[in-house]
Amino acid sequence: MTDATPPSENTAPAISSNHELSVQRNLALPTPAHDELLIRVIYSGINPADIKHKALGIVDTHLGYDFCGVVHRLPPFDSGFAVGDVVAGTTPTGYGGPKKYGTHQDYLACPVDMAFKIPPNLPVLDAACICVTTMTAADILVDLCGFEPDDLGSTSDRAGRSAILIWGASTGVGNACVQFARALGIKNILATASPARHALLQDLGATHVFDYNDSSAVARMREVARNGSFNITHAIDAVGTTGMFSNSATLTKECCVDHPSAVLVSTVVRPFDKGFKMPLATKNKRVDIRLLIIPSLKAVDIAKGYLPTIRQTIEPDHEAHNRMWSALLWAEDHYGERLSYHECKRLILASRPSVCLWKSIALQEEQGDSESKNLGRKITRRSRLAVTMGPYEKKPTGRDSCISKKESDIVEVYATPGRGIGHALGSLVSPVEVTAESAYAINQFFNSTAERMYPVHLGITIEAAKIMWLQVLFVNEASYHCHVALMQTCNEVYDSNDSVSPRALSHIARSLPRVQRILNSDEALSDASIAIVLSLISQEMIRKCNEEIEIHFQGLTRMVDLRGGLPKLEDNRALTLKICK
Ligand SMILES: NC(=O)c1ccc[n+]([C@@H]2O[C@H](COP(=O)([O-])OP(=O)(O)OC[C@H]3O[C@@H](n4cnc5c(N)ncnc54)[C@H](OP(=O)(O)O)[C@@H]3O)[C@@H](O)[C@H]2O)c1
Repeated sequence: MTDATPPSENTAPAISSNHELSVQRNLALPTPAHDELLIRVIYSGINPADIKHKALGIVDTHLGYDFCGVVHRLPPFDSGFAVGDVVAGTTPTGYGGPKKYGTHQDYLACPVDMAFKIPPNLPVLDAACICVTTMTAADILVDLCGFEPDDLGSTSDRAGRSAILIWGASTGVGNACVQFARALGIKNILATASPARHALLQDLGATHVFDYNDSSAVARMREVARNGSFNITHAIDAVGTTGMFSNSATLTKECCVDHPSAVLVSTVVRPFDKGFKMPLATKNKRVDIRLLIIPSLKAVDIAKGYLPTIRQTIEPDHEAHNRMWSALLWAEDHYGERLSYHECKRLILASRPSVCLWKSIALQEEQGDSESKNLGRKITRRSRLAVTMGPYEKKPTGRDSCISKKESDIVEVYATPGRGIGHALGSLVSPVEVTAESAYAINQFFNSTAERMYPVHLGITIEAAKIMWLQVLFVNEASYHCHVALMQTCNEVYDSNDSVSPRALSHIARSLPRVQRILNSDEALSDASIAIVLSLISQEMIRKCNEEIEIHFQGLTRMVDLRGGLPKLEDNRALTLKICK
């Protein structure tokens, strides 16, 4: 039996085995298995995963993870559903998921035990995007942190002494974690978010809120725990940023240094940090994550087939999946009473979602924007202005426009620089206007720091070092900002032993989007681009950010390989030496 709406053809946004995105039209309706419903989709929720497929190696499938819709055709047994029921759910899509499960298509197949009838207290729009985030939060708290699902909403004091930190609490997952934490009776719920979200999060259950952009947030959080005489026993990185100075996992971990046995969870794969558990309880299929370490998405196309990958296998866990599902049903029952997403995750597309979604993805692909977070945000909320990420994975669009319209915006007044850096500077065309602050940093570097970095016994004179640096400094804007950042960092390391320099970081913030652009251009493999990556590695080494070092190092290795190996670089001996170093 089918609903009254005449079946039409199916339309689906798809990713091919060659990582190409397209909208597939005039498709036949999916064929559900004997225990599946055929559903006509009304709304589908957008998740960051929607445009991470390429990097995660999820290919040859139809896109989308959660939905609400109308039951169009029933299985041949009493499933508890009727044709015309308005239902929501999620499907076993993603890795190896058959195309029939993609939720952004007009019709999909959904196993009967992965859909539920939408109760009157749950608006259909919210229902379309409740599953992924809520089940992930449940997986984190119940399966990975070990809290008792029976304690949800009960008066049990079992979780009372625990204290939980949720870094990125206004993400959909973070938001659900806060609310589950409160429902479990956890007394101290520490959360980071933009200040504009603090009141909302406190309303939902956060007991202490911090701005993730505040450089003292970690110290303040530790102080709150010390003053309150509690340990952070569980720390969740719910945002999953990587990169130069906003690596949410690193920050999350730093909050727990006073309690090293804290359970650490990250919502994204952390291949270089085994301390973190990752939620991904799948019901009955083994998931083999193949994470590409890529300089840019374009490079995937250039280097198809031989890009380095990191593998992580997650075995199916039926029990864990059942616990997630039960927690979801609990949330759905109490929606509006205890749980609500407010504006969070209302990233819904109206009917015929596939076309809208595709347009957003296509636009970002064209712009070389691989950062999934902006996809929904363009529609309903502010973008992740604060996210600054490593250039190989994600593009920090917002930060660039927010901080660095032009270099003079951040100029501070300095005493007149001492000795000049010589005639070479005067005769070079700079890609940006060199401000007093930068000139001071460059001068200081050549006048005192370089002398300590290149001691005479190494056989490199200051003049030779200067020529080496000047050759790369003014090649382009990215190189300029990146190398001024390195000079500034080195100055501060040698001057005050301080490796975290806000001035250097502001140059890095400006260089990252430019680096991304270069990596997406024909210049991707030039000497200058390789020099930029070397500079990034040096800076991360100074900051001791191992994960970033590894990512840049992998990027560097690929670049050298794609250039044909080290021998092909020998024309530029300084560069070759630096790579070998
Ligand atoms: N493992 C899994 O099964 C699984 C499932 C779902 C999601 N995920 C992953 O979990 C992450 C969150 O997904 P989501 O859908 O919940 O995210 P989302 O709703 O798209 O997150 C958007 C929010 O991120 C916050 N944010 C941006 N940059 C931040 C930073 N540097 N620090 C802290 N918060 C920041 C912003 O909060 P403000 O408004 O406060 O600025 C923004 O509102 C993603 O990386 C996603 O891929 C994993």
